Amino acid sequence: MKTLLLIFAAILSMTSCNQKTKEATKPEKALVLYYSQTGATKTVAEELQKQLNADIEEIYAVDPYNGDFNATIARCQKEMAEGILPDIKEIKSVIKDYDVVYLGYPIWFGKAAPPALAFVKQYDLSGVKLVPFCTFGSGGKDTGEASIKENSIGKLNIIASYGLRNARVKFAPSEVEYFLKSNGLLEGEYEKKNDFSTMAPVTGKETEIFNQACGDYPMLHATPVRFSTRNVNAGTEYLFEAKDKGMGGETDIKILVNVYHENNLKPEFTEVIR
Ligand SMILES: Cc1cc2nc3c(=O)[nH]c(=O)nc-3n(C[C@H](O)[C@H](O)[C@H](O)COP(=O)(O)O)c2cc1C
Repeated sequence: MKTLLLIFAAILSMTSCNQKTKEATKPEKALVLYYSQTGATKTVAEELQKQLNADIEEIYAVDPYNGDFNATIARCQKEMAEGILPDIKEIKSVIKDYDVVYLGYPIWFGKAAPPALAFVKQYDLSGVKLVPFCTFGSGGKDTGEASIKENSIGKLNIIASYGLRNARVKFAPSEVEYFLKSNGLLEGEYEKKNDFSTMAPVTGKETEIFNQACGDYPMLHATPVRFSTRNVNAGTEYLFEAKDKGMGGETDIKILVNVYHENNLKPEFTEVIR
């Protein structure tokens, strides 16, 4: 009898265990919020929204930055000198209804564009997991994220961040998918990237690749010093350490460059890390 009872208890505990594992984990509710002036960040935001099945809302400045590039530069410089951020329109989404917020912006002068800074100054994001994302001409993911942290009214819980060069926005579907999956933000298989090789001094061959990738970008005046590589799906990815001659003197930068297997595709840089 005692043995029967023990077997019965064991079966009961196994069933309750099974029930526990079968319980579906509630999917995280995601909101994509973004500011975009010329559409690059909007493309990435919409790709995130699609892949995550998230809600989405755009952030608008009350007085839009709708001038051309030079007019935006001039207005932005004036506002920075005066230490002011633009007023933004109220958003309809209720932040506390979400588990994760993806906050997108273009990089302006190495920082998140002012409407995104105004947003984090006004809306408390401390209760959600935050994923900042940006688009840029050459780079600024880390400095942009730092500016978001500096301006935020609440302590942020940043769980990952993403940046895409505007010239490569056509790759948003595959790049966003890789970012989400490799950071555990979306379920599914993905090809893990190898580690980079050990750094070595550049030779003429790598300098040529560097110049092909960066030579026609007007804001970069860089000379490569050392490099490392790793094989990726489409070809080889280079990580260069370089010296960049800017207005403030020479600075050390890192540049990621893709060299593709396909001969008709020229090497291109994907991000400058300052
Ligand atoms: C005022 C201004 C400042 C900018 N500053 C930078 C910069 O510091 N670094 C950079 O890589 N790109 C810079 N850019 C380029 C934008 O980040 C890039 O074009 C971005 O993808 C635009 O996003 P959007 O199309 O969503 O507005 C700047 C653009 C503007 C208009």
